[in-house]
Amino acid sequence: MEQLSGKVVVVTGAASGIGLALVKRFGAEGMKIVMADIEVPALEAASASLPASIERVTVACDVSDGDQIEALRRTAIDAFGAVHVVCNNAGVGGGGSMADINIADWKWVIDVDLWSVIHGVRVFLPGLLEQGEGHIVNTASVAGLFSAPFMGPYNIAKYGVVALSETLCSELAMQQSPVGVSVLCPSWVKTKIASSARNKPGVSSEEVDMISELAGPMIDAGMDPDLVADAVIDAVKSKKFWITTHDDTPAAVTLRTRSIIDGTNPPQLMH
Ligand SMILES: NC(=O)c1ccc[n+]([C@@H]2O[C@H](COP(=O)([O-])OP(=O)(O)OC[C@H]3O[C@@H](n4cnc5c(N)ncnc54)[C@H](O)[C@@H]3O)[C@@H](O)[C@H]2O)c1
Repeated sequence: MEQLSGKVVVVTGAASGIGLALVKRFGAEGMKIVMADIEVPALEAASASLPASIERVTVACDVSDGDQIEALRRTAIDAFGAVHVVCNNAGVGGGGSMADINIADWKWVIDVDLWSVIHGVRVFLPGLLEQGEGHIVNTASVAGLFSAPFMGPYNIAKYGVVALSETLCSELAMQQSPVGVSVLCPSWVKTKIASSARNKPGVSSEEVDMISELAGPMIDAGMDPDLVADAVIDAVKSKKFWITTHDDTPAAVTLRTRSIIDGTNPPQLMH
């Protein structure tokens, strides 16, 4: 989609980090924006921080719930009459040792990081196909390309997002559809993801602080989310599927691929 001005974009996880950077960048392109997030006060503050010239609506939405994604689409259509770009971006970090991750944590991460994207594609794709124009951006991670230790639920969810996106890309190509899809696979980005547990049902403040302290330093040294948003805009305009953002990603992907071809055990790869 080369021409974005006047078109409508839905961004989930729009209150913070990569989602908020996407909102600002799409807004600068003249798009109308539907901002969705589970954290309503942060969502309203994010919306208030935008230039008045950007047309937008905010929607409280838990992306792990398919009914709420359907309501999100109805709100977008009611507000702006159509949807052209969908960024299935909201996500949470979570993990631990494979020996002792509890079932509630498995479910929380997979519901928010994978089911959200399944629902987002299921709900929005038919309308994009019908109007013969549109683009879906699914936020995965380098965790969808190679598997670092202690991130089991996250890795599995993000591999699922990559597989879903590749499948959709093949189907759209077979149909010679004008609709495009991209999968975003960043490494560390400077956002609030280290404190994702703030959105976990029933979490204690001690757990939020502990995870934040473990992952915080890598995140704080991460890439500026505005650079990630720039890469997404380029991909939407040029119908580019893979969006990798960090210089060390190709080498890690090559090592993993090499081990598959050679039949050697997985290399120890960290993000
Ligand atoms: N920050 C990184 O290093 C990094 C790297 C690779 C991929 N990612 C991915 O980028 C995406 C955005 O994360 P971020 O880094 O900007 O983190 P962030 O915490 O700054 O932003 C995530 C947003 O998603 C929202 N959210 C969480 N659960 C939700 C739910 N159930 N329903 C709706 N909204 C929900 C949060 O309230 C928050 O506003 C995620 O999918 C994440 O996995 C992040």
